[in-house]
Amino acid sequence: MPEYQTHDYDVLVIGAGGAGLRAAIEASANGVRVGVVTKSLLGKAHTVMAEGGIAAVMANVDERDNWKVHFADTMRGGQYLNNWRMAELHAKEAPDRVRELEAWGALFDRTQDGRILQRNFGGHRYPRLAHVGDRTGLEMIRTLQDHGIHRGIEVHMESTVLSLLKDDGRISGAFGYERERGRFLLFRARAVVLATGGIGRAYKITSNSWEYTGDGHALAYDAGASLMDMEFVQFHPTGMVWPPSVRGILVTEGVRGEGGVLKNNQGRRFMFDDIPENYRSQTADNEDEGWRYTQGDRNARRPPELLTRDHVARCIVREVREGRGSAHDGVFLDIAWIKDRIPNSAAHIKRKLPSMYHQFKQLADIDITEEPMEVGPTTHYMMGGVRVDPDTQMSDVPGLFAAGECAAGLHGANRLGGNSLSDLLVFGKRAGEYAAEFAKENGTPAVDSDEISAKAQQALAPFERTGENPYQVQHDLQETMQKLVGIVRSEEEMQQALITLRELEHRATKVAVPGNREYNSAWHTALDLRNLLTVSQIITRAAILRKESRGAHFREDYPWKDDATGRCNILVRRNAAGEMQVMQEPLPELPSELKQIIEDMK
Ligand code: FUM
Repeated sequence: MPEYQTHDYDVLVIGAGGAGLRAAIEASANGVRVGVVTKSLLGKAHTVMAEGGIAAVMANVDERDNWKVHFADTMRGGQYLNNWRMAELHAKEAPDRVRELEAWGALFDRTQDGRILQRNFGGHRYPRLAHVGDRTGLEMIRTLQDHGIHRGIEVHMESTVLSLLKDDGRISGAFGYERERGRFLLFRARAVVLATGGIGRAYKITSNSWEYTGDGHALAYDAGASLMDMEFVQFHPTGMVWPPSVRGILVTEGVRGEGGVLKNNQGRRFMFDDIPENYRSQTADNEDEGWRYTQGDRNARRPPELLTRDHVARCIVREVREGRGSAHDGVFLDIAWIKDRIPNSAAHIKRKLPSMYHQFKQLADIDITEEPMEVGPTTHYMMGGVRVDPDTQMSDVPGLFAAGECAAGLHGANRLGGNSLSDLLVFGKRAGEYAAEFAKENGTPAVDSDEISAKAQQALAPFERTGENPYQVQHDLQETMQKLVGIVRSEEEMQQALITLRELEHRATKVAVPGNREYNSAWHTALDLRNLLTVSQIITRAAILRKESRGAHFREDYPWKDDATGRCNILVRRNAAGEMQVMQEPLPELPSELKQIIEDMK
């Protein structure tokens, strides 16, 4: 029987990005023993890729802003599939979570009179994103990490969880391994919070780094929890496209918030060509007005580059497909043009967008204060995830909670930029609080040592085989999802994807890895494949069932929004026989006072 080390906690948090750290801090503040497991090093999380800011109504730049406007913007951005209660809690609680972060040491950019500065972002009616240049996520992680460590939270770095454990239907812990040495780990816990982030590595072009293989989504699914809205994958419109080694790295929406414009190879601002009806009255119809908006003119309307991400990404795809793209299948994002509008523009750009300046200078030898950037869509964020109770964040498995990107509900069919950082603060805190409460109210569950032994044997199986290299299977999976279940989808291509995914699933059971358990990245890849395959099949099956186009899900065979069939959430869960079930669920009834807010804001 393979050996393992055992650790006991009241609350185990899986993932150490913003949601995981915020949950761990809150659980610890509620007086329980907390452990955090993270696949990577502490401080390395996709949270840092939310560069442009935290969406929270502080009304520091425009006093017309209030929670009702933020609520209505979030619902409209999500095409009304959002869980209304989560959208309400989020809009109301985000400002307190930002002030709390500041009290814990986060340093924000300031207004002239010393308040937290807020900037424009796509789909937000007023300047709302509290920010630190273009490094907001990084500042958030730094602050939460310092605060969490000072609370004495134990962190297991570079450790991967392979499966969740249950006792009589209730969560009882998790089983995993240390990536460096390959030693197995058993975590016994009364409650578990999943905060593992997204699924970006299921695609070839992504802003996500190697950690994001859908672990929380797949762990929850395997444990019997329901997943929701999995057809909605967000392709951020602006990732780097050149050179090939950096393709997919994020170019913050903050560039457009500061006045950056998108142009095709004819020098035309193509975003003016297609303004959706429901945003027309708020969108500028000429360059001058759009510029005045980014400079704080309250009578001006926003430039079309600040329409929602789903729309901007599709417009870029259209330009490329119709032959108006850049040399490397992107378009041009130009912030240098503002030199015609303001003095000392180079210093201004470097102050507002320091990371973008360095990123392009170092990685592409482009000076963004002088030249346009080449950009194209990149897989950035998963709107779908574990279906949770909106107040407590508990899934339908007792004791299993989820927060941040691996939980569903807040964003519906499309997330507004900046709503992810506020999401993980608001719902990370809630998950930590209610997980601690659950742990206090429920005794220590049992763990079955035979089950642990079987899981360890299964993890070691790739060493016993001769067969295919796991990297090849991972590569083919990413190509398949990129090509067949990407920004523009169709029944025929997704059915083809399902066939390929089944073949890949079969190949994954046969992959072999050489060497031993220490420092063996081929072994890590072999173990990640299961999660990647599970989430890829779930995304594809949910996307096949949604026969309309809405938010981030666009089907060229159903290119319209169909309220008759589409106003529902799609749920995916495993039945008792282990089969994947995909079903529609009606949306929860929106209370009349919230309905009224949405009407008033229209
Ligand atoms: O563009 C960005 O800075 C990303 C922000 C986000 O995803 O929320």
